[in-house]
Amino acid sequence: MAVLACLLLAALVRCAGGSPAPLSSEDEFHFKSWMSQYGRAYHSEEYHYRLHTFTENRKRIDRHNAGNHTFTMGLNEFSDMSFAEFKKYFLLTEPQNCSATKGNHIVGDGYYPDSVDWRKKGNYVTPVKSQGACGSCWTFSTTGCLESVTAIATGKLPLLSEQQLVDCAQAFNNHGCKGGLPSQAFEYIKFNKGLMAEDDYPYTGRDGTCNFKPQMAAAFVKDVVNVTKYDEMGMLDAVARLNPVSFAYEVTSDFMHYKNGVYSSTECHNTTDTVNHAVLAVGYAEENGIPYWIVKNSWGRYWGQDGYFFIERGKNMCGLAACASYPLPLI
Ligand SMILES: *[C@@H]1O[C@H](CO)[C@@H](O)[C@H](O)[C@H]1NC(C)=O
Ligand SMILES: *[C@@H]1O[C@H](CO)[C@@H](O)[C@H](O)[C@H]1NC(C)=O
Ligand SMILES: *[C@@H]1O[C@H](CO)[C@@H](O)[C@H](O)[C@H]1NC(C)=O
Ligand SMILES: *[C@@H]1O[C@H](CO)[C@@H](O)[C@H](O)[C@H]1NC(C)=O
Repeated sequence: MAVLACLLLAALVRCAGGSPAPLSSEDEFHFKSWMSQYGRAYHSEEYHYRLHTFTENRKRIDRHNAGNHTFTMGLNEFSDMSFAEFKKYFLLTEPQNCSATKGNHIVGDGYYPDSVDWRKKGNYVTPVKSQGACGSCWTFSTTGCLESVTAIATGKLPLLSEQQLVDCAQAFNNHGCKGGLPSQAFEYIKFNKGLMAEDDYPYTGRDGTCNFKPQMAAAFVKDVVNVTKYDEMGMLDAVARLNPVSFAYEVTSDFMHYKNGVYSSTECHNTTDTVNHAVLAVGYAEENGIPYWIVKNSWGRYWGQDGYFFIERGKNMCGLAACASYPLPLI
C-alpha cells in the first residue's frame, strides 16, 4: 500500500487546482465511511481532491444502478480514483503485440456442456491474488493458467511466482510493471525451463533484478497454444474440454466500478490493438438468456464478486477473443 500512496500523492500535484463544485455534508459522510472501511487517511488538499473524485464515482454508480443493466456497480477500493489514474497504475498503457492470426489450438467435436466452472471441478484454481499498483496483470493471468493446467495434469495445485515473470521475462517482449502478454510469458517459461513457486520468489509489485534458481523451478511448459484471433468458439472449446484460458480485453471506465452481474459495455473497443488487461477464464454459463464467461481477476478478493467477474460471451465483448492462450504442461 505504501507504493500506491506515494503514486497517488504524485498524481495530486497534477490534478489539484480549479474550483470543484461544492459538496454537501452527506457527500462527506459517504466519503468518510468509505475511508474508514478501506483504512484510508487523507489530509488537506488531497482530502478535497479525493472527496471530489469519490463523489463523482459514487454518483455514477448510483445512476448506473438505477438504470436497466445486466450488471451492477458498487464502491470498492478504487472508488476515490479517476479512471485516468486507475489506468496509469493498474492497466497496460501501451499496445501489446497481441494476436495469433492463425492459432494452433485444435478444436474438438463441437459438443459442449451448457456450463463449466473449473473452481467446482476439483482443486484446480488458486485463490484470487492482488497485483497492486503495477501493470503486471499479464503475470497473474499467466500463473493462474499454468497453476490450473499443472493441477489438472498432476493433481497438485501449485502457487506460482509472478515476480519471476516481472523480473526475468523481458527477452520475450514483456516489460515488467509496464506490461506484457500471457502468450509471451508462456514462451519465456518454456525457453527458461521453469517457473518458481510463489513462496520461493515472492511478489513485490516492483520491477527488480532477475533471481531465477533453476533447481527451484516448480512448474514447466512443454508448448504454448494460441487460440486464433477473434475465435471465441475456440476459447469455449478449450475451456470446456481442457483447462482455464488466459485472455486480454479492454478495460474502460465503467469496468472499474463492476460489482456483480454480467458485464457488457458500449464504451469499450474490440480489436487486438486496444486490449489493456489480461485475466483468466475459468468457466462459462448463461443467466436470463445472456451467455457469459466466469473470469478470475487480479485486483484482490474484495473487488467484484470475490475477485471474479462475469462478462458477456459470444460477441467478442471488449476484444476478449483477441489474444487467448494457454500452455501445455511439462510433467
Ligand atoms: C430492461 O432491458 C431488457 C433488455 O434490454 C428489456 O428486455 C427489458 O424490457 C428492460 N426492462 C425495463 C423495465 O425497461
Ligand atoms: C512488439 O514487437 C516488436 C518486434 O518484436 C518489438 O520491438 C516491440 O517492442 C513489441 N511491443 C511490445 C509492447 O512488446
Ligand atoms: C502465439 O502468439 C504470440 C503472440 O501473442 C506469438 O508471439 C507466438 O509466436 C504464437 N505462438 C504460436 C505457437 O503460434
Ligand atoms: C467489433 O464491433 C463492431 C461493432 O459491433 C463489429 O461490427 C465488428 O465486427 C467487431 N469486430 C470484431 C473483431 O469483433
